[in-house]
This record gives sequence, structure tokens and C-alpha cells, in this order.
Amino acid sequence: MATAAIIDGKAKAAELSSAIAKTTAALINDRKVTPGLTVVIVGEDPASQVYVRNKQRTAKACGFNSVQHSLGADATQDKILTLIDSLNKDESVHGILVQLPLPVHLDEQAITQAILPAKDVDGFHFQNIGKLTAGHLDDAFVPCTPAGCMLMIEDQLGKDLSGLNAVIIGRSNIVGKPMASLLLKANATVTICHSRTKDLPAVARNADILVAAVGRAKMVKGDWIKPGAVVIDVGINRIEEELDGKPKNRLVGDVDFDEAKAVASAITPVPGGVGPMTIALLMLNTLSAAERSNS
Ligand code: GUN
Repeated sequence: MATAAIIDGKAKAAELSSAIAKTTAALINDRKVTPGLTVVIVGEDPASQVYVRNKQRTAKACGFNSVQHSLGADATQDKILTLIDSLNKDESVHGILVQLPLPVHLDEQAITQAILPAKDVDGFHFQNIGKLTAGHLDDAFVPCTPAGCMLMIEDQLGKDLSGLNAVIIGRSNIVGKPMASLLLKANATVTICHSRTKDLPAVARNADILVAAVGRAKMVKGDWIKPGAVVIDVGINRIEEELDGKPKNRLVGDVDFDEAKAVASAITPVPGGVGPMTIALLMLNTLSAAERSNS
């Protein structure tokens, strides 16, 4: 049986990062501007710690000025808003990212909306969401995960998705909704599914492009997939599995990879698919923020 091409997000992200590093060197040389990325992390969530470390490492490799503010889990809303205000005013900071999720006592929306839209490299500010929804992508910041997914979809199918059905499983503000806007802009016919969708497998089977972003390990089975579909797996789920009789932790996506790869034409692996691309797109957004700035 034919098996799907495995989309190497890690290699593509590495190529992107090295191109970003070259452009950064020219920006520093020509305009004396060093892209500055500041990441704010609150609390000790282990997964967030890993993500932030990877972001900082890539930022340094790109030649950015990379700064991290680590606040205790008991940090107050006021303290965080004061920090964001000072970062908004700091000309050496081009991109500000507050790692989510935040501890429950904090108002996530008020915090993400306090970041200046011009420094909102996550693309979470309503102004950037509005631009994306309206199709004004030239000066918007697009959320990094869907932007990275889109580049991988373009590699498989080209920039014009006319006539193709795209199905997104998951309606989050971080992935599902912005993904829909990007696919729509590329002329795909888009369906967003969620926990209240009737007969999800039947809807998924209609997809030429299937994006899974629900956070449930191996939920999407082989028989949910249309033969020849391009499958993008956004999930990162830690599961415990027996290996040689011993329990072992393993990262898996929202798609049952072994089943899906026998049906799809191309599929992203977990790890090594969407994850590295998300980080590369954060670098691209930060570089754009620096290029657009006057400082
Ligand atoms: N937590 C999980 N994904 C993201 C992301 O893309 N940005 C931020 N800020 N936090 C996240």
C-alpha cells in the first residue's frame, strides 16, 4: 500500500531560520537594528518552560536580542500589565510574547490585549485578528501555528486551493479560527468542526486538507481520512505507553499517525512537524516587527 509523504517541519523550519538569520545580519549591518524578542512566562508549567526555552534558543540562533522575564505563579495582574507597558515603550523590544496558558487568577484577555498591536508577534491582539479576518495580511501579524501550517500546505498543494475542501477540527482562537481565515484567503472551502459537530468522522472524510487541533491523543483515525488528503497534525499530547514491557512517555498528535499515513498523501509527524514551524514563524514575525519599526 502507498504511504504518505512525511512532511519534515523540522527541516523546513531550519531552512526558514537560516534565511531569517541572514536577513537579520543585513538589518543589523544596514540599519543598526537588532530584532528584539521578549518572552514573558508566568509560573512553572513544565510544557511552557520547554516551549519558551526553544523559542529563546532559536531567537539567539537568528541573531536576535532575546530576553526572558520569568514571573512567579503568584504574579499579580497589575505587575504583568506594568511590565507590558514598559516593554511597549522600549524601542529595543520589537516583539512581545506572553506564554499561555496563564495561571487562572490572571485575566488572559486583558493581558494579551495590552500588548501594542505592532509588537504583537503572536497575532492575538484584536486589531491583528481583525486584519487577518478581513484578509489584510500585509501589515497584520498572523498567529504562528496556523501560519506555519499554511506554509506546509502550500508546499504540498500550491498557493491557490480553489476547489479543495479544508476541514479544521478545533475552534480555538490560537489555531482553529485563524487557520480558517488563512485557508479561506487561499480560496479553499472551509469547515470548522468542534465538540458539538454531528458525525465528525463523516465531515472529516470530506477533507482534501485536514487540520487537527483539538488536543486529544490519536483521536483522528485512518478511516476519518479521505484517500490522498493532506493531513496537518497540530496536537502535542504526552501519553504513557508500554515499550518492551516498561511504561514510557511519548509525544503523539491528535491523529493516529500509523493509520493515517496509509491513507493520506502527506502528513506532518509529531514531534517534528508543526511544532518547529510555529517557532520559525515567531522568528519571522519578530523580524517583520523590527523591519517595520523606526528604531
Ligand atoms: N501556548 C501555546 N501556544 C502558544 C502560542 O502560540 N503563543 C503563546 N503566547 N502561548 C502559547
